[in-house]
Amino acid sequence: MKLEKMDAFFAARLNEYDKHMMTEIEGAEEFYPYTAALLPLAQDAHVLDLGCGTGLELEHYFALNRKASVVGIDLSADMLAALKQKFPDRKLKLICGSYFDVPFEANGFDAAVSVESLHHFTAAQKLELYHKLKAALSDQGYFVLTDYFAASEEAEAFSFSELERLKREQGLKPHAFYHYDTPLTVAHEREVLKKAGFAEVQILRNWKATYTVLAR
Ligand SMILES: C[S@@+](CC[C@H](N)C(=O)[O-])C[C@H]1O[C@@H](n2cnc3c(N)ncnc32)[C@H](O)[C@@H]1O
Repeated sequence: MKLEKMDAFFAARLNEYDKHMMTEIEGAEEFYPYTAALLPLAQDAHVLDLGCGTGLELEHYFALNRKASVVGIDLSADMLAALKQKFPDRKLKLICGSYFDVPFEANGFDAAVSVESLHHFTAAQKLELYHKLKAALSDQGYFVLTDYFAASEEAEAFSFSELERLKREQGLKPHAFYHYDTPLTVAHEREVLKKAGFAEVQILRNWKATYTVLAR
């Protein structure tokens, strides 16, 4: 398998992206509206979306809260352009960059959401990100994570070692982002969120490998 850079991977599949997610990912018809319904309904709600892509979760959120203001961060300029076209008249600020690098407004957000994006990263990368995220949330703020998780610790370890092997074999840069799924187990994800300072981490629901986790 030839690894592709993360942004190039999604740009190349943009045309079929929404249909692919909705028809090939088990539970998508339910987990997008379910995730959106957990986000704040107050008209002045300020929400951060990590890896917003073309905004499948935001379609449902804006249907519930037309007045919300959302900051969406994504590596792919093409995914963001498609999202912008869907919602020309919503309060939507889009930032093209990595959520590991983009600074977040301190105490600025009532909630954050991330759907099907964070399963590409290590626990160490996520710990740093979740520290930054926690500081960006208001006192009552919370994080809704809907993502794909590994079925076992063995599966988790295997995908990380495969990614390293493929990078070595293909002579790729160790720190660049390539599209290869390396999900943690949901138990490990919970540990990382707790370590980052979220006091309460609940596993709310799952659809096969996709879980919704709520961290406060
Ligand atoms: C499978 S898509 C999910 C998009 C959207 N949340 C959804 O569920 O349809 C993953 C998205 O995460 C983005 N992404 C991956 N790593 C990222 C990073 N480090 N920073 C920002 N965006 C990232 C990709 O560019 C892609 O648009």
